[in-house]
Amino acid sequence: MKEQLEQIKAQSMQELESATDLQGLDEIRIKYLGKKGALTSVLRGMGALPPEERPQAGALANQARAAIEAAIEQKDAQLSGQARKAQLAGETLDVTMPGRRHKAGKLHPLTQVLDDVKDIFIGMGFSIAQGPDVELDYYNFEALNIPKNHPARDTQDTFYIDENVVLRTQTSPVQVRVMEKQKPPIRIIAPGMVYRSDAVDATHSPVFHQIEGLVVDKGITMGDLKGTLEVFAHALYGADVKVRFRPHHFPFTEPSAEMDVSCFVCGGEGCRVCKGEGWIEILGAGMVHPKVLAGCGIDPEVYSGFAFGLGLERVTMRRYDIDDLRLFFENDVRFLKQF
Ligand code: DAH
Repeated sequence: MKEQLEQIKAQSMQELESATDLQGLDEIRIKYLGKKGALTSVLRGMGALPPEERPQAGALANQARAAIEAAIEQKDAQLSGQARKAQLAGETLDVTMPGRRHKAGKLHPLTQVLDDVKDIFIGMGFSIAQGPDVELDYYNFEALNIPKNHPARDTQDTFYIDENVVLRTQTSPVQVRVMEKQKPPIRIIAPGMVYRSDAVDATHSPVFHQIEGLVVDKGITMGDLKGTLEVFAHALYGADVKVRFRPHHFPFTEPSAEMDVSCFVCGGEGCRVCKGEGWIEILGAGMVHPKVLAGCGIDPEVYSGFAFGLGLERVTMRRYDIDDLRLFFENDVRFLKQF
């Protein structure tokens, strides 16, 4: 039995010596010290020994167990240390490595200019109004003093859904919707998409954006229109910009005008952006036609108002000297990231 124990001890030590990981170590523990392990089965055989030999054999067996346990513990400490070192080495963070750049998104140039325009008008006490893109013929035309067969309908190539429903060709119908619901004083702008059955080219798109404006109150005059739009032009294009109004015609305003700003590229000398004119047209405007007011239940004898409409794409193109409208809708990041 003594020899058996010596042999178990020697063999286990040898195996421990060559154990390379914690799992291997555990297998050795089970093989020698486990319930069905080599040492345990030797101890079981002790019952067969003569009683006087048992104490000595027991002591030997305990010694062997203690020696194996101690050796396992030592190896365990060694292997655990190695494992931890390897883990740490694998998780090393090189703080000198260059960081990964995250590309930040940006607002579309149209959104940026729209936000600026909104800020300017909100600063003057306007609020934002909205209307539907799919609009009744009544609001898009009739109520704006553009009856069926009116020549102005030809200039706005309309997408008809049916006889009475269109995709709005302008944001002006929002004026009517607001005046029907709200009594003066009214001060709103209404930005939104408009639709015209135009072929796509550098200056045309079947979908584009307008910003409508409407002010109605007692005693509103053309002077208020000019003052308000001048403040707007200076806020958007700079205090040095000059403004001029030219007579024009719109069915829903009387009198009507177009507003030009002096070219902010050449300052009025004439250049590529203003096509040599020194002026750039940016919006249409006028005093709300008495018929339009009356149609909305607002008494034109008591109230008056002015309205204006501008094209967001046009204003943005002129601001950044962009020469092709299609760029706004292609969403090529090489274009978009410049703004
Ligand atoms: N709705 C006009 C258009 O699409 C623009 C416009 C002109 C709007 C004069 C107005 C206005 O409110 O007073 O061409």
